[in-house]
Amino acid sequence: MSYYKVDNLEQYFKHYNKSVREPRKFWGKIAEENFTWYQQWEKVVDFNMAEADIKWFTEAKLNITKNTIDRHLNKRGTKTAIIFEPNDPNEEALHITYNELHQRVCKMANVLREQGIQKGDRVCIYLPIIPELAVSILACARIGAIHSVVFAGFSASAVATRIMDSACKMVLTADGGFRGNKTIELKEIIDEALEKCPSVTRVLVTKRTNTPIQMKEGRDQWLQPLLEEASDNSVAEIMDAEDPLFILYTSGSTGKPKGMVHTTAGYMVHTAYTFKNVFNYEENDIFWCTADIGWITGHSYIVYGPLLNGATTVIFEGVPSYPDFSRFWQIIEKHQITQFYTAPTAIRALAKESLEYVNSYQLQSLKVIGSVGEPINEEAWHWFNDHVGAKKCPVVDTWWQTETGGIMIAPIAFVTPTKPTYATLPLPGIQPVLMDEKRNEIEGNQLVGSLCIKFPWPGIARTIWGDHQRYKDTYFSDFPGKFFTGDGALRDEVGYYRITGRVDDVVIVSGHNLGTAPIEDAINEHPAVAESAIVGFPHEVKGNALYGFVILKETGEYRNKENLFKEINQHITDHVGPIAKLDKIQFVCELPKTRSGKIMRRILRKIAAGDFTDFGDTSTLLNPEIIDQIKDGKI
Ligand code: WT7
Repeated sequence: MSYYKVDNLEQYFKHYNKSVREPRKFWGKIAEENFTWYQQWEKVVDFNMAEADIKWFTEAKLNITKNTIDRHLNKRGTKTAIIFEPNDPNEEALHITYNELHQRVCKMANVLREQGIQKGDRVCIYLPIIPELAVSILACARIGAIHSVVFAGFSASAVATRIMDSACKMVLTADGGFRGNKTIELKEIIDEALEKCPSVTRVLVTKRTNTPIQMKEGRDQWLQPLLEEASDNSVAEIMDAEDPLFILYTSGSTGKPKGMVHTTAGYMVHTAYTFKNVFNYEENDIFWCTADIGWITGHSYIVYGPLLNGATTVIFEGVPSYPDFSRFWQIIEKHQITQFYTAPTAIRALAKESLEYVNSYQLQSLKVIGSVGEPINEEAWHWFNDHVGAKKCPVVDTWWQTETGGIMIAPIAFVTPTKPTYATLPLPGIQPVLMDEKRNEIEGNQLVGSLCIKFPWPGIARTIWGDHQRYKDTYFSDFPGKFFTGDGALRDEVGYYRITGRVDDVVIVSGHNLGTAPIEDAINEHPAVAESAIVGFPHEVKGNALYGFVILKETGEYRNKENLFKEINQHITDHVGPIAKLDKIQFVCELPKTRSGKIMRRILRKIAAGDFTDFGDTSTLLNPEIIDQIKDGKI
């Protein structure tokens, strides 16, 4: 029997139990039957959780692009691999077949090689959501270069930090990017970033907006002429199962972003398997994930997962509100989308607009709708289910993280009965546990705890680039022998999981995972600021918004608080990016701190949420009187 697809609930339990009892047989069989390998593995999995040392498919040899592209050419060469829907609805959509994708990726791979990029080199990709982004990712994978995609909304200094951390040799960018009615000057941002990045010797620029840009002699080149010259055949590099495939940065609780490293074989097996099952993917479906490819959701479910299954995947350059709030529905109708995967923040924003927008389009092509990125509230869930899915499409609320590589807890469409706000059951192969404060495993149901995973899964990130100790400390030390997710969760009476939110210093704003530390660092750079603390507070559309408690230096220069607020937000925009701007600011004279000097954020969170009921145990506070002062808005 094949384990690749779960067809009904009974089979789910059968596969699940098999995956726990005999994980090696379970994943081994999936890996063997559904992918192309140059050489088989010795061990399916080899690990030591205490040391945070995890390997899957040891000694196996493969190239992931053989599996995302070449493998399909015989049967699906003329099938559309990528539909590109541009920002401007009047610009024609592009249909790229698997044959064309092969040519494009080979050409790009040859350009990279000619420019001196070799296996193991890091390439930073800072591009708009255009086909070149997917092609660049795959071209890196083809030659064994490690791609590090940086979200094209990050500021120059945030890009520079990421480029330097992994010492990228090359940057792939564009003159600019279209987003709604704005143009983003990507090349200009890269120029500024590169002033601090000596490792980068080559920049290749895609023409997208025709924005006039500076080209630095000896470093910068237009990509197009190089592609025209390049051969459209390129031999795929033979990669080890555990060779890094990519680095993707995520926020940490200290200022420095964590470069999560994903390796080749395990990530491939995990994303392919989860894509196929969660979304009930069938041949000829048209899959659309609205995420940005700069985040893990785009890596796994716009690029790798769909292409590994020979699917048609949609790449959308724009935003849900441009030219108006019907854009998503228009695209679903236009391309006859069968699976639509988006984020709660987008759902909430669209639900606020007139129903006319949704009702004016034919959405009958849809068969599965999905949500990812943060907990989906009940109201948004129902709106999505009623108005988008017409109550006939299962809503798959998928819980996972940059660190997990692929979906972990989610309904399998048409198999797992859904329940609003619940991510439901772990996928086969995933073994979640809830831990109590004493670090014991919670056995019963209807209880809340810290969500951990107690057995490795193929898609788990293997390390933090350049800092394995930090990887070990962050994920494997709070609950020894287990991977700690940073999330809290509740398990109901039938074993369904509901994610309750972060239990650490990460705030999820409009689905963007933001560490508070880098934002505080940016605020503290302002000359008037002595200290600051950021917390999240509930926001109708964004899920959470940021609230800053700021202590000013006593210079008295900054009397105009409104201007100061603007300047602080500008500092954040420059250092982190506009997504991290504060919605609210409060100037305070002190912050609630424990005797060991740690800011008690849970108190600030309650104040920010306007909840003054019970501040819990404040006995470890050095300055408990400050709570009343802050709550009363006194400085
Ligand atoms: C954090 C990971 C998963 C890819 C996009 C975000 C939150 C994610 C859900 C969900 C409740 C969710 C968690 C998680 N999260 N999906 N379905 N329900 N919370 O990846 O940026 O690494 O963020 O997003 O808090 O830890 P990420």
